[in-house]
Amino acid sequence: MIGLPDLGRPVLTAYDPIMLTLPKSVRMFEVGPRDGLQNEPTVIPTDTKIELIDMLSETGLETIEVGSFVSPKWVPQMSDTEAVLKGIHRKAGIIYPVLTPNMKGFEAAVKAGAREVAVFGAATEGFSQKNINCSIAESLERFTSVCGAAKEQNIRVRGYVSCVVGCPYEGEVDPGKVAEVAEALYTLGCYEISLGDTIGVGTPKKVERVLYTVAERVPTDKLSVHFHDTHGQALANILTALQCGIAGVDSAVSGLGGCPYAHGAAGNVATEDVLYMLNGLEVETGVDMDALLMASGFISKALGQSPASKVARAILDM
Ligand code: HMG
Ligand code: MG
Repeated sequence: MIGLPDLGRPVLTAYDPIMLTLPKSVRMFEVGPRDGLQNEPTVIPTDTKIELIDMLSETGLETIEVGSFVSPKWVPQMSDTEAVLKGIHRKAGIIYPVLTPNMKGFEAAVKAGAREVAVFGAATEGFSQKNINCSIAESLERFTSVCGAAKEQNIRVRGYVSCVVGCPYEGEVDPGKVAEVAEALYTLGCYEISLGDTIGVGTPKKVERVLYTVAERVPTDKLSVHFHDTHGQALANILTALQCGIAGVDSAVSGLGGCPYAHGAAGNVATEDVLYMLNGLEVETGVDMDALLMASGFISKALGQSPASKVARAILDM
């Protein structure tokens, strides 16, 4: 118990003290079909993406990010997002957002039937330039247009901040800069800000520091966390975030993914692994493990690889 803060009550109770600090439920935000598949070396057939998304729609997940309206020259893997959006069987109550970096992407997304979009900025100039070919200030101007148009059309916008702990081009990242960009996105009207450890270098202490800094400027119930598992720290970081009062977690089925502009970054934390932890902590998610494992098995087979998810490997014996 050394090092525990004085909680003003006994900590050694019949209950695990960890439970006292956790949210009752967590919003799981599935990014596999987008963040997961955007980095695959081969182009995934559109029908495979549609089948994956349809399977994910049967899991209880309420949000499934299905693609991006970005330059097909930059990210060819997402060039069929319009066909994906049109081909999936939308289930009532599920939101299927897409990434839209600018008005061109936003207009195409709306035309294809998107009802929620996401803008994505970064906490460092280096990553902003490499990822979306503009400075942070320029990106915020573009997002102002997208958020303005979205508001007029009653479309929700989510905001991402990449490189909240470390940057592949600039190294350590100032939490104050993360807070600045997160607040700017929140002020533009983003309903939620996802804080991304894009290259997976965070550890609980660093994560706690950045979350506390951001929380001074954006309410914690408007924040989510997005971890890539490069150094195997993602679950520890998620637990830390939950204990800091965050109740939104991004993940990718089967641990798919990476970012084309963050070389060496591993996939997102696997949805199955997050769910297993949350189930064990008795935190509600509404997500069914068996249905999720079916989707995981399906996409792993389609890609010809074993899942990065330890839970899927343990249970499916792959
Ligand atoms: P640009 O080259 O600066 O844009 O790209 P431009 O306005 O100068 O236009 C150049 C060409 O792109 C033109 O076509 C435009 O029409 C076209 P051309 O005349 O050469 O044939 N273009 C577009 N085409 C389709 N959709 C659009 C669009 N906009 C312009 N929306 C742009 C700027 C942002 C488009 C480009 O840099 C790009 O596509 N970047 C890719 C960004 C991306 O998808 N990155 C991965 C996702 S972010 C991520 O993974 C991190 C995250 O997971 C969180 C985390 O982990 O931290 C979210
Ligand atoms: Mg990501």
